[in-house]
Amino acid sequence: MSKRPVVLVVMDGVGINASEFGNAVKKAYKPTLDELWANCPHTEIKAHGLAVGLPSDGDMGNSEVGHNALGCGQIYSQGAKLVNENIETGEIFKTETWEALVNNCKEGTMHFLGLLSDGNVHSHINHLKALIKKAKEDGVKEVRIHALLDGRDVPETSALIYIEDIENYMAELNDDNFHACIASGGGRMTITMDRYEANWAMVEKGWHVHVLGEGRQFASASEAVETFRDETGVIDQDLPGFVIAKDGKPVGTIEDGDSVVLFNFRGDRAQEISLAFDGDDSFDKFDRVRMPKVMYAGMLQYDADLNIPHNFLTYPPKIKYTLTEELCKHGIREYAISETQKYGHVTYFWNGNRSEKFDEKLEDYVEITSDVVPFEQRPWMKSAEITDVLCAAIESGNYDFLRTNYPNGDMVGHTGNFEATVIGVESVDLQLARVKKAVDAVNGILIVTADHGNADEMYEKKKKEDAPVKSKTSHTLNKVPFIVYGADVELKQDEDLGLSNVAATVADLLEVAPNEHWNTSIIKK
Ligand code: 3PG
Ligand code: CO
Repeated sequence: MSKRPVVLVVMDGVGINASEFGNAVKKAYKPTLDELWANCPHTEIKAHGLAVGLPSDGDMGNSEVGHNALGCGQIYSQGAKLVNENIETGEIFKTETWEALVNNCKEGTMHFLGLLSDGNVHSHINHLKALIKKAKEDGVKEVRIHALLDGRDVPETSALIYIEDIENYMAELNDDNFHACIASGGGRMTITMDRYEANWAMVEKGWHVHVLGEGRQFASASEAVETFRDETGVIDQDLPGFVIAKDGKPVGTIEDGDSVVLFNFRGDRAQEISLAFDGDDSFDKFDRVRMPKVMYAGMLQYDADLNIPHNFLTYPPKIKYTLTEELCKHGIREYAISETQKYGHVTYFWNGNRSEKFDEKLEDYVEITSDVVPFEQRPWMKSAEITDVLCAAIESGNYDFLRTNYPNGDMVGHTGNFEATVIGVESVDLQLARVKKAVDAVNGILIVTADHGNADEMYEKKKKEDAPVKSKTSHTLNKVPFIVYGADVELKQDEDLGLSNVAATVADLLEVAPNEHWNTSIIKK
């Protein structure tokens, strides 16, 4: 094993895009990143589509699949693909869980809660359609949809497209014996889909509209969206919660004897609401007021170690031979740090969706608490605070492999605010200079990369030259940088290199043998 520590920096959402149009990465003043790119061995690697286990190369990358690939050195079929296959083969509907869900609510209601879009990061509307259709075929009489509006993995004001699509779909199915409709909803960054316990109040707000039917009432979801847009001008992800009601009565509260399916497949933003429905009596994150006796299931199991949730429709990928597990075998001391918004990315996602450590003695994880603010207001986020602590860890000499994630390019990129995102990228660059100095002080090696693009494309591509510029809030299909500083190595330049080639590269730099299951190292031998 090498005596030289290796530090890996994930610049979340910082991809490579040759065009300057809406490119906040190019626009940013980032002398350190530019200098590293100009003077150090570097290459470009894939972070989207098949290279990270998504159904097709039309699927943009995301942090879950990106960190999974980085941290396990292999390409696994991911939730999006597994659920597709499970639905296509019909296996999902042969599971005991599906049967129990249906049988449980023959006299009650089947509720489908989740992100209503075709973003394919957390969910896909086609999965929801398949569930509704099969529920009807299996004799369920009442279906209610609790629709979280996206605008973050899809265009920022596209909610009405998906609402119309699902309402038309349900209208076709509705008849004398079956009735499906939307019962509640709201923007995904306002209700229900918090992650890593950054803001439980979001989940509480979701509980009130979905379960208790408490909130501003509207006759339809489209009326809610249009009214809020007129009143506040907010984009979809920030729309307030709403309840659909008829004659003042909510059309779909969640009651004893109902079944509830969270149709999101991705885990980070699914865990808290799952705990609220499915946790034990000790649940104390907020006052649920009323706890209906329902059968609850997730599209996937979001954390297999912690059994969240107990019931699920699709087995998650069993990610084996992770980098952490392998490094622990060699006694390598590891350190992971980020702020709340991405803390689970460098721990849970990195380790193949595991919350537990492999070896308590060898691993230290540090979370810097994120601000609960719109990130365009504080685009620097906690980058400086992360760096203060990270640099001390590097210089302590207590760790051999250290990793961090700077969320700025992604979290600010998702707001669609170009100027703020430029500042976000510049903030990361400032901190990169400090990390580089700390790495120099211990004669270490620095790897700089990213999990997917976002800040590199802040405007929607124009269909016509004279079309107005429209902000883009979602990730991109672009490649990401991979730079090695402080090691005299030559890097491959193959077209097909991707995030799953990084684990073996880290092992190379630490001078330990890569696991035989991993994709090859990026270093030329
Ligand atoms: C989110 O959950 O914020 C977005 O859907 C995806 O962003 P991430 O993959 O970068 O976390
Ligand atoms: Co993102």
